[in-house]
Amino acid sequence: MVFFSALTLSLVALVVPARGGVKYPDCANGPLKSNLVCDSSAAPEARAAALVAAMRNNEKLANLINNAPGVSRLGLSAYQWWNEALHGVAHNRGITWGGQFSAATQFPQAITSAAAFDDALIERIGIIISTEARAFANNGRAHLDFWTPNVNPFRDPRWGRGHETPGEDAFRNKKWAEAFVRGMQGTGPTHRVIATCKHFAAYDLENSGSTTRFNFNAKVSTQDLAEYYLPPFQQCARDSKVGSIMCSYNAVNGVPACANSYLMDTILRKHWNWTDQNQYVVSDCDAVYYLGNANGGHRYKSSYAAAIGASLEAGCDNMCWATGGTTPDPASAFNAKQFSQAALDKAMLRQMQGLVRAGYFDSSGSLYRNLGAADVNTQLARDTALLAAEEGIVLLKNDGMLPIALNGSNSQVAMIGFWANAADKMLGGYSGSPPFNHDPVTAAKSMGITVNYVNGPLSQSSADTGAAVNAAQKSSVVIFFGGIDNTVEKESQDRTSIAWPAGQLAMIQKLAGLGKPVIVVRMGTHVDDTPLLNLPNVKAILWAGYPGQDGGTAVMNIITGLASPAGRLPVTVYPSSYTNQAPYTNMALRPSGSYPGRTYRWFKDAVFRFGHGLHYTTFSVSVPEFPATFAISDLLASCSGAATYLDLCPFPPVPVTVTNIGSRTSDYVALGFLAGDFGPTPQPIKTLATYKRLFDIQPGQPQTAKLDWKLESLARVDQNGNTVLYPGTYTLLLDQPTLANITFTLTGEAAVLDKWPQPPA
Ligand SMILES: *[C@@H]1O[C@H](CO)[C@@H](O)[C@H](O)[C@H]1NC(C)=O
Ligand SMILES: *[C@@H]1O[C@H](CO)[C@@H](O)[C@H](O)[C@H]1NC(C)=O
Ligand SMILES: *[C@@H]1O[C@H](CO)[C@@H](O)[C@H](O)[C@H]1NC(C)=O
Repeated sequence: MVFFSALTLSLVALVVPARGGVKYPDCANGPLKSNLVCDSSAAPEARAAALVAAMRNNEKLANLINNAPGVSRLGLSAYQWWNEALHGVAHNRGITWGGQFSAATQFPQAITSAAAFDDALIERIGIIISTEARAFANNGRAHLDFWTPNVNPFRDPRWGRGHETPGEDAFRNKKWAEAFVRGMQGTGPTHRVIATCKHFAAYDLENSGSTTRFNFNAKVSTQDLAEYYLPPFQQCARDSKVGSIMCSYNAVNGVPACANSYLMDTILRKHWNWTDQNQYVVSDCDAVYYLGNANGGHRYKSSYAAAIGASLEAGCDNMCWATGGTTPDPASAFNAKQFSQAALDKAMLRQMQGLVRAGYFDSSGSLYRNLGAADVNTQLARDTALLAAEEGIVLLKNDGMLPIALNGSNSQVAMIGFWANAADKMLGGYSGSPPFNHDPVTAAKSMGITVNYVNGPLSQSSADTGAAVNAAQKSSVVIFFGGIDNTVEKESQDRTSIAWPAGQLAMIQKLAGLGKPVIVVRMGTHVDDTPLLNLPNVKAILWAGYPGQDGGTAVMNIITGLASPAGRLPVTVYPSSYTNQAPYTNMALRPSGSYPGRTYRWFKDAVFRFGHGLHYTTFSVSVPEFPATFAISDLLASCSGAATYLDLCPFPPVPVTVTNIGSRTSDYVALGFLAGDFGPTPQPIKTLATYKRLFDIQPGQPQTAKLDWKLESLARVDQNGNTVLYPGTYTLLLDQPTLANITFTLTGEAAVLDKWPQPPA
């Protein structure tokens, strides 16, 4: 997806006329009134097929693009497929803000809400976003499909858009996708809105020297593809039946994703059985242009027409275009025989079936059509946005300083840094207008704290530290807000360095030298905190990411102890030297030679490991009992029939008892990682296998919980991409670092749970 900074957005708003939102066809009196498509008791496929049968070829050809003109002869209005809602209804082409729809709830970015490890919360967020989105649509201010979630695993810390994702772990992203898509689409046959999982696949690079997202050929082994890059999409397509998938700009092993029939047909539609509801694939904007002969692109085809043909034939059903002057011309491509009538009809059927399932052709009294302005920015939505930010904040370091009551003798607080009162920065990329925007300074003042605020350097530039030192000297506590905001640049926001910005670091060092306690609140995504860990007066470090509309309140509630931190890092914090050791374009997960490998599963020398997160109390964990041995044949036999796919067969839940042995009530995220001598070598250090957030654990009142998991969590992926359950000794490690462990053995023959389709030779 093309990325817009706030500045670009306002320019776009001037240049591109507002297109308005959805206009439902008039099924009661319009030209379609006796067409089967308007019969809500008929099967969705039959309804969509009837409509496609009524369309002429030129009408189909005109509607293969994101800004579809509709078919006026049939009473179909123009429809804009490009609508964004990553963490709330956003500003973009398909969405018209104004009137009663001048604000929508802006949740934390995915990277922050993922850190909560609370999937019921993620589903709730999805329900609220889609409810607000549908309310916009019903009032002609948006359409019925939204290009969210972004579930690409956050492979490299330089990626400037990693904060749109739930982090670096394939299993975590899978679970996040499951909860979010269920929230967005709902669980019934009619979708509240159509969700779109993006970007399919192996997409996580915008710009690295002359390599850009438009020409990057990601070289990915079959093992890494099946094990790491694709599981979130398997969840979306096979298991969550997401309404649509976006193909990405990059190529995978030489074939651009939007012309890649191995990805879109062999795996997505056939292996994952995603054809069952005729779901559609939409291209990222201009991806089809760049896979043809466009400058700076893949040059995979010699003309734009050939690129359009290759894309449609490979299984992409709708082309988004963003660049002026490069309008795709499907009619010319069709006349030049670049794609078949069958491909055209199939694309149209898939698009229309998506709209049928979203209730586009249903009556005004149908499900979700009554959602309106009263359903936007509700108290529940506001409370959930605040809760998500509080749950997602991670306490990285604490020398006993936090929580701190910022009143009485501590009521003068220096708040320093550009993030401290920059409310829009709390939101992150792809934002809309929130009903309010509480930055930390605003939140602190409303708590009655006397704030001595001073701006700080954005990144590398050095700054005059005089004002900051004065503010600190007047105060008893210093809170520095720092980190890199990846949303300040547009398009090419990837980084070359993950070191703390030198200008900010110099200021923190100066402040830490004054003898006052310093709390650092790190925003944004990756920077190496090592230099701060070496400063004794930096008493505490919090990571808040992009915490959304109430992010400042959440940060201040955590600092003052009104809320207790229990978030866990959904990414590895790498040392800054990592960017020299791992070429950005190397997609391999496993280490080899001097290449250090990627993610907590393989990389050994993290500054903070995936799953790290401290509390204001101390927990102990134990596993009362768990069987020591399982026969693989028994596990499979007891499952047959219960799960359509063997990797979804349940494994006995692990009972855990969590005891708060400190003095403050707190949530606790139980994380279970698997390690052991089973499966292919080399073995990962450990792998996230199960997790659960427990709430409000009071001192001295142990809570018990069951950690659910499925065979997917025990299996490993072999070099051919097969998911295999191996015999061997397994150790479940609880928490990061490990607080308890259990060991069990699987006996018998290895069993293939998912046989992977091999790539074309
Ligand atoms: C795949 O989808 C078809 C419907 O098209 C369905 O009949 C079949 O059971 C599905 N297969 C699996 C394994 O779920
Ligand atoms: C300071 O605030 C805390 C709550 O954060 C409260 O318990 C305490 O009584 C307050 N102290 C003063 C001096 O106001
Ligand atoms: C597992 O726990 C036992 C004690 O019950 C301990 O001796 C062992 O070192 C632990 N293993 C790991 C890998 O943490």
